Amino acid sequence: MNIKINKINKDNIKNILDIEITSFPTPWDEKLYLSMLRNNRYHLYGAFLDDILLGYIVLYDSVDIIEIIKIATSKDYRKKGIASHLLQFVIEKYNLDFMLEVRTSNINAINLYKNFNFKDISIRKNYYKDTNEDALIMKREAK
Ligand SMILES: CC(C)(COP(=O)(O)OP(=O)(O)OC[C@H]1O[C@@H](n2cnc3c(N)ncnc32)[C@H](O)[C@@H]1OP(=O)(O)O)[C@@H](O)C(=O)NCCC(=O)NCCS
Repeated sequence: MNIKINKINKDNIKNILDIEITSFPTPWDEKLYLSMLRNNRYHLYGAFLDDILLGYIVLYDSVDIIEIIKIATSKDYRKKGIASHLLQFVIEKYNLDFMLEVRTSNINAINLYKNFNFKDISIRKNYYKDTNEDALIMKREAK
């Protein structure tokens, strides 16, 4: 697959929302995405096959560290390397330490992050308010 990674713009938001609602128990809405696009601390990238959005990543730039606050792939295209493409792209682009938190039950995502050398840092108990689930904090240090 010839996947291209591009910055997300407001024309892509509808497609993001289609993936978002099938990927997350508490999906973010259009207003939130538009506000992130206006805030230069947030960086949003999409993985495109031709012009079709198949996945996206949302980063928060904390100056000396990048937080991955969301990554998702369209259900029909999972396990084909789309999220790996996105992670590879941002790791090369920013060359900084990365941090994230992930539900301890989200084995798919944890496996993905481990492939990219993210290490377990700590557990935040009852972090997710919808299910009271714990968050695993992971960090990847720049070489
Ligand atoms: C997690 C997610 C982003 C992975 O996207 P993806 O495009 O399928 O990931 P990739 O194809 O690049 O897979 C990379 C690695 O992730 C892991 N992985 C992905 N799907 C998996 C599955 N169903 N079972 C086990 N491991 C899985 C594997 O380690 C895989 O590497 P491998 O193919 O060498 O085994 C996707 O499942 C998703 O959108 N989930 C819902 C949203 C979510 O939970 N996001 C993360 C928290 S913000």
